[in-house]
Amino acid sequence: MVVESQEIFKEFKEHSVAEFFKKNRQMLGYSGPIKSLTTTVHELVTNGLDACEAAGVAPDIYVKVEKLGTDHMRLIVEDNGPGIPKKFVGKALGTMLAGTKFHKFRQSRGQQGIGGAGVVMYSQITTGKPARIVTGTGEGKVFETHLSVDTKTNQPILTDEKEYSGKMRGTRIEVELKGVLYQKGEQSPDEYLRRTALANPHAKLTYIDPDNLTTVYDRAVSKIPPIPKESQPHPKGLETDDILSYARTASARSVKSFLETSFARMSAQKAKEIESRVSFDMNKRPQDLQWNEAEEIVKAIREMTFIAPPADCLVPISEDHLEKALKNVLQPEFFKVITRPPAVYRGGVPFIVEVSVAYGGKSGKAINAEDPTSERMEIMRFANRTPLLFDAGGCALTKGVQSIEWKRYDIKADVPITVLVNFTSVYVPYTGAGKQAVADEEEIIKEIRLALMDTGRQVGRYVSGQRKRYEREAKKKMLLRYVEPVAEAIADLTGANVKLAEKKLLHVVETKYSEFNEEAEGGDESNGSEENGNGKQEEDD
Ligand SMILES: Nc1ncnc2c1ncn2[C@@H]1O[C@H](COP(=O)(O)OP(=O)(O)O)[C@@H](O)[C@H]1O
Ligand SMILES: [Mg+2]
Repeated sequence: MVVESQEIFKEFKEHSVAEFFKKNRQMLGYSGPIKSLTTTVHELVTNGLDACEAAGVAPDIYVKVEKLGTDHMRLIVEDNGPGIPKKFVGKALGTMLAGTKFHKFRQSRGQQGIGGAGVVMYSQITTGKPARIVTGTGEGKVFETHLSVDTKTNQPILTDEKEYSGKMRGTRIEVELKGVLYQKGEQSPDEYLRRTALANPHAKLTYIDPDNLTTVYDRAVSKIPPIPKESQPHPKGLETDDILSYARTASARSVKSFLETSFARMSAQKAKEIESRVSFDMNKRPQDLQWNEAEEIVKAIREMTFIAPPADCLVPISEDHLEKALKNVLQPEFFKVITRPPAVYRGGVPFIVEVSVAYGGKSGKAINAEDPTSERMEIMRFANRTPLLFDAGGCALTKGVQSIEWKRYDIKADVPITVLVNFTSVYVPYTGAGKQAVADEEEIIKEIRLALMDTGRQVGRYVSGQRKRYEREAKKKMLLRYVEPVAEAIADLTGANVKLAEKKLLHVVETKYSEFNEEAEGGDESNGSEENGNGKQEEDD
């Protein structure tokens, strides 16, 4: 039987973006009970940090995870940021694709305007309860409301609104969550905050875990990172659709002047060059630009050369701050950090890679600390200072770290090492909406490798020195055990004085294995015997 089109299209409906994400919540990081909990912490903590930094305030973030049942938690996150003006509370946290960051070409943690409303929605669809928001802008009034998302319309629903006087400046969000699981380990809120502290030494973090234990990460530096400059998109990063959407809202009179004024490194001369390469008249209004014409512009740009984009729009952690953060959180025995100069990927998107390699102290995977033969290397990935705890396998940052032959630097699997990689960019090429992995662009991996070869080698030298010293000590100890019996045997055979023989033997052992005889010792150990010197071989990762 043939079904009429009329019949089929009776079912035609339009859905809201909130409806879409309600169905596809895994795209926002709500997949599995462990990840769902960490996602909520992440969304609210990044919002707090972004808000504080935008307002030029040193962040002081309070996080409490309270256990209400096996898979039932309450999460409270409070910041000392600028607060949200009353009339924006609903839109900011109860509407998806709404916010203050999406339309800016500026480095920030959040960008899409989905995270906050996502948490509110996850809470409401798993518990049926609204979120509780308390916010103050420091002008004497505090606004409090219950908030949920009307998923059909993607509009906020505010109930129990109250306003009272108070000095509060900041925002407090409380949500109840079900279908979540708290489990210590690498994907827990605990670890998320530990890593957040490492990449944000200017922030103070207070964390109360479900066992009611308080961990405080104090500020390691007092200077707030500068607010990244807003930049313009670089021509080399543009797609046809980008050009068209910028053109729609352009105020320039002609396509030519639109190109000249809207993009970084686009001079009058470059615009002229594009003009000579396209087949249409660039004096037309930007609003009248057609798809095929924009395509011609993209093609022209691909064939041209442009100066690399300015890098003042990027604010990495910096070597100095990263050093202080490492000392504060990991207290390593030895470490190296490096912030690479800016580079570009996809021909035009600027980024900065910074890495640190830390040895000893609290470095290395804590989970395996008991077992001396287990894998100890811990890889910490960050994008714009935000820890990435999931999807490690498909991430360029992991690939970069694993592409290094650590064994060549004498860093074997059982060495307690923490390798940290922070990727800073206005536009992070995430592999999915969950924002947990960075796409493996060749230039990104190359930068990570360059940074790690340098730091890895230096840390490796230290580790190897430590290992040799340890081995020397062990050998010396073993030989010392023979001094007495051998001296006795010599005395027996030769009639020499036992004490004298002992003294001479001791002297031999002491000089051979003294601190200062490192080179002599290294001399007969090097050249190949090193690889097998440990008696055990581990397979490469
Ligand atoms: N703690 C906060 N303090 C001040 N403003 C906030 C806070 N959390 C969220 N906002 C505002 O709400 C907007 C939406 O937040 P969110 O949905 O997480 O999207 P995004 O962070 O991607 O912009 C933000 O752009 C910001 O303007
Ligand atoms: Mg956000």
